[in-house]
Amino acid sequence: MPSLYHYASRAPMKIRKVFFPARAERLHIGSGPQRLDGWINIDNVKYPGVDRVLDVTHGLPYRDVRFIFAEHFIEHLSLNEVMYLLRECRRVLTDDGVLRLSTPNLDWVWASHYELGSEGDDAARTCFLLNRAFRGWGHQFLYNIEVLRGLLLDAGFADVVVCAYGESTHPELRNLERHERSEDFEGLADILVVEASGRGAGAPPYFSRWRHEFLHALGAK
Ligand SMILES: C[S@@+](CC[C@H](N)C(=O)[O-])C[C@H]1O[C@@H](n2cnc3c(N)ncnc32)[C@H](O)[C@@H]1O
Repeated sequence: MPSLYHYASRAPMKIRKVFFPARAERLHIGSGPQRLDGWINIDNVKYPGVDRVLDVTHGLPYRDVRFIFAEHFIEHLSLNEVMYLLRECRRVLTDDGVLRLSTPNLDWVWASHYELGSEGDDAARTCFLLNRAFRGWGHQFLYNIEVLRGLLLDAGFADVVVCAYGESTHPELRNLERHERSEDFEGLADILVVEASGRGAGAPPYFSRWRHEFLHALGAK
């Protein structure tokens, strides 16, 4: 007679994530080939070092998770997919669990890439550079801290802390980032690193208006 695992592994994600979640302490989402030992390295492509091939936009079939880490990942999903994923992260984390995200900093991109008022060759370069940052490498949405914080609060987290690259008050979350750095520009870091924790009451009211207008313009629901 087939085992429970046989049925669980074949069930649709909606059923699997609720009825057959696996216990896991640390999830590394969108790991690519950047495997972290001691973590479940998840990607939708079977790169060397990936432990679980999974499209996380359909949910996270885990429970009792203490830490979730995703580096240079959320900018590759649509805003709707990120909103869903952040809620999933909150759902599968323990009450004292922590989500750590690292993603390009829109403030740095804008300040370092775009020269307002430039002409000729400079004006062309700056236009292409900015559009490359938005659309290159599969990017779908770039974040500033205000929007990233708003999405995390909206997903049900209570606290959002900005961290320095590689640093954390949680020993388990230190020295995880691998991505190459660019120099700070006018005091702005090229990468936003945040940790979200706790359970809270939602994003500020102004936030949903701008998000709604953006999604409406994209024709997304
Ligand atoms: C830019 S790479 C980042 C890889 C690694 N985290 C790093 O910092 O070098 C984004 C990764 O996300 C994975 N990915 C994209 N969409 C995904 C999805 N829906 N579910 C799981 N992984 C996904 C891609 O296959 C890719 O390996």
